[in-house]
Amino acid sequence: MTTPAATPARDSPAPPPARTLVTGGAGFIGSHLVERLLAAGDAVTVVDDFSTGRSDNLAAVAGHPSLSLVTGDLSATLTGSLASSTFDRVVHLAAAVGVQLVVDRPIECIETNVFQTAEMLRYCRTHGPGGGPATVLIASSSEVYGKSERTPFSEDDDVVYGPTTKARWSYAATKAIDEYLALAHHREHGLPAVIVRFFNTVGPRQVGDYGMVLPRFVELALEGKPLRVHGDGTQVRCFCDVRDVVPALHKLVGSTAFAGRVFNLGSDVEVTITNLARAVIAALGSRSIVEHVPYDQAFGPGFEDLRRRRPDLRRIQEAIAFTPTIPLDRTIRDIAEHIQTNQRGMPRPAGGRNAGSPTR
Ligand SMILES: NC(=O)c1ccc[n+]([C@@H]2O[C@H](COP(=O)([O-])OP(=O)(O)OC[C@H]3O[C@@H](n4cnc5c(N)ncnc54)[C@H](O)[C@@H]3O)[C@@H](O)[C@H]2O)c1
Repeated sequence: MTTPAATPARDSPAPPPARTLVTGGAGFIGSHLVERLLAAGDAVTVVDDFSTGRSDNLAAVAGHPSLSLVTGDLSATLTGSLASSTFDRVVHLAAAVGVQLVVDRPIECIETNVFQTAEMLRYCRTHGPGGGPATVLIASSSEVYGKSERTPFSEDDDVVYGPTTKARWSYAATKAIDEYLALAHHREHGLPAVIVRFFNTVGPRQVGDYGMVLPRFVELALEGKPLRVHGDGTQVRCFCDVRDVVPALHKLVGSTAFAGRVFNLGSDVEVTITNLARAVIAALGSRSIVEHVPYDQAFGPGFEDLRRRRPDLRRIQEAIAFTPTIPLDRTIRDIAEHIQTNQRGMPRPAGGRNAGSPTR
């Protein structure tokens, strides 16, 4: 027997699931987001070329009836298999990620980050519901602040870059161009685009191969090898667990209320890189030691790093009541558990140029 209250009204069927495209969905942040979107009932399409993403990252949702995986380069996919698709919302995470990658392979990184975003934004204008615009979230980076010495970084602050002869600034410049483009599409065509500047997002599935500092430290600590800290180690960063970041992304792309706005997203709890290394050693009970390596030795002559990078979170707190909750030592232990469980992310030679990162 059912009560009238428990019976769904016959003329109000459940709304269709939101159709969400996640570019870079097999990557670190993307795969966590995909799991959340599927759990919320979305029909999710992932596009990934697996340049830095991994199929293992999507293992927990493999075969999910609401997940479609398109393997390939984003540009080719938008004009190919997704040319006649429409989406309610798009989360554009696909990118050549991180300063180390752009220093090593600058042409590929610059072209990927600028051209793919340009094509993505044009696509979003006409591939939303009924051929109108789709809501789109563009992944930017705290790198866009460059070497500004302000603390904390607020979204409307000036940015300060080094010369074009120093390749590391090109990553910041590509993300800044992405932002300019998204804001221009919003202004000129009413595209509901929101920009998120990630500050050192960390957690299980992030890999150390491309210079990301925390997974590198965890890998080395598990092996009992020295943790290589660049410079004197007093440079300050703020690390935020991806499981705090993903609900915020979900909220930001779930409404057009944030269109045309830029948000910092991360933690504002500061830690020096030396103390990060010590925290990893302590959390894992490792016998590793901390070693200091001059920047020149790690990155070549003239590498410029930033002393301090902390986000002003007032805007995002006001918009979506964002407050990170996961402590760093839990993140460290979960990264370690993930590495050990998956028998991957095994340490590369500790003496390589990529062994640790000052910034990521
Ligand atoms: N993790 C962080 O701390 C951080 C900080 C600042 C900005 N971001 C930004 O967040 C986004 C996601 O970063 P992440 O940390 O998850 O990195 P990630 O490398 O794990 O994810 C990027 C994904 O994009 C895919 N990809 C790259 N080029 C592609 C292409 N041409 N076509 C299709 N797929 C492609 C990769 O295979 C990968 O799966 C990026 O835009 C990055 O710049 C991340």
